[in-house]
Amino acid sequence: MNSALARTSAVVLAAGFGTRMKSTLPKVLHRSCGLPLVHYPVRAALEAGASEVIVVVGHGREHVESYLREAFGARVKFALQDKPCGTGDAARAALPALAADCERVLVFYGDAPLVGAADLAKIAEALDENPTSPLAMATCTLADPTGYGRVLRDATGHIVAIREQKDCTPEERAVTEINPGIYAARADFFREALASLTPNNAQGEYYLTDIVAFAPERGDRVIGVASSPDVMIGINDRQQLFEAEATMHERLLTKHRKAGVTIREGARIEDGVTLGTDVIVESGVVLRGKTSIGNGCQIDVGSVLTNVTVGENVRIKPYTVAEDAVIGRAAQIGPFSHLRPASVLGEESHVGNFVELKKTTLGNRSKANHLAYLGDGIVGEDVNVGAGTIFCNYDGFQKHTTILEDGVFIGSDSQLVAPVRVGKGAYVATATCVTKDVPAGALAIARTKQDNKDGYADRLKARFKAAKEAAKKALEAEEKGV
Ligand code: UD1
Ligand code: CA
Repeated sequence: MNSALARTSAVVLAAGFGTRMKSTLPKVLHRSCGLPLVHYPVRAALEAGASEVIVVVGHGREHVESYLREAFGARVKFALQDKPCGTGDAARAALPALAADCERVLVFYGDAPLVGAADLAKIAEALDENPTSPLAMATCTLADPTGYGRVLRDATGHIVAIREQKDCTPEERAVTEINPGIYAARADFFREALASLTPNNAQGEYYLTDIVAFAPERGDRVIGVASSPDVMIGINDRQQLFEAEATMHERLLTKHRKAGVTIREGARIEDGVTLGTDVIVESGVVLRGKTSIGNGCQIDVGSVLTNVTVGENVRIKPYTVAEDAVIGRAAQIGPFSHLRPASVLGEESHVGNFVELKKTTLGNRSKANHLAYLGDGIVGEDVNVGAGTIFCNYDGFQKHTTILEDGVFIGSDSQLVAPVRVGKGAYVATATCVTKDVPAGALAIARTKQDNKDGYADRLKARFKAAKEAAKKALEAEEKGV
């Protein structure tokens, strides 16, 4: 596929306002399956092997550029369209950026995220196969062509022009063959055709689509490449965003399922997530960002993982929420666990119900099974953290670290007031407030002694009962008095 696009510059138009999105965010930065729309055409061009990718930016350019720089680095170049006055003008803005040896230009739109590398290559190849034609373009037929430019053909079936919906006569409007917006043009033709554009149309804009009529006007043929409608959908409003995302998502899930992942109905998985074989993803699970799940993991109902790296055979029980965390092999998490950023869980570790971790490392086989807050902690191996334990990490001004060395046992309902260290193998008795370091092997116990008063329970109950009745009588007297 790569050689097909030698000396070919890909130009992605992404400078428009996106007015129909009704948004302060530039259209091409709205997300589908987790990534901004503009990510997809740029990725497709790179995957297709274009020799360079030029993105035309304008509206919201600093945001679009900074996203693409971060995602693709130096592989993407930018051209600036000062004022969005049409797709033709945007394409013109890319001309000065074209490589000197560019022979062919592949132009398409930043709002068409379903177009893949193979779709692009097909249009470029059509130009190769027709050496005398200066221009090839995708076309497709839609039951409802509303909003798209219509493909107009002459009596012999040759493409003669693209007519925007707003400029169509009623007969032209009835045409169901549309322009999806992928063009491969020879570089010299492209320059000439763009120079010829005028804004004589309903929108007063320079239309890129007018390069199509330029070819037959000078006796050249335009090659139409029939393309599948479901990949050609362009996104102008949020309904189309929704529809395109549904198609993209289904495609993604199909790819994962074919690769050996069970994904139940109602799970959502973003583009960029990787899944090993024999992973089971239950309903209502959301996997986001750069999450990666190792072989044999089970991610149970309602769990939401964002940028989480999960080792093999991990069991994530229902309603676990985790972000920017690492979970080691064969660990068990949940139900209702919360792993906040920089939590690192060792192999075979257990984190259970209503346990919250933040910037805490839990060593191999260590457990915190119930109701705990472990913030800014370094926990060694084979440590047992009892129910209700709290790492008191914040003094109102600074965060401090709690260190539990290997083999430590923390009894339930203990507080560790950081900074504090509990030495290897030490034992913290239940309900202890640890305020100073505990030496290795020591027992730390800090709680008031219990006092049992024989027979006192009945006396106490009688006193409380009498008090309750007295209060009731006083209330009744007051009500009668009124
Ligand atoms: C365009 C086509 C239409 C085609 C449809 C396919 C034109 C004139 N029309 O219409 O034939 O059926 O796409 O989806 O080309 N842009 C700029 N600068 C501008 C204007 C637009 O960079 O001044 C960019 C936008 O950011 C967008 C892309 O070009 O990514 C397409 O623009 P849009 O306004 O969505 O064109 P459509 O009306 O959809
Ligand atoms: Ca569009």
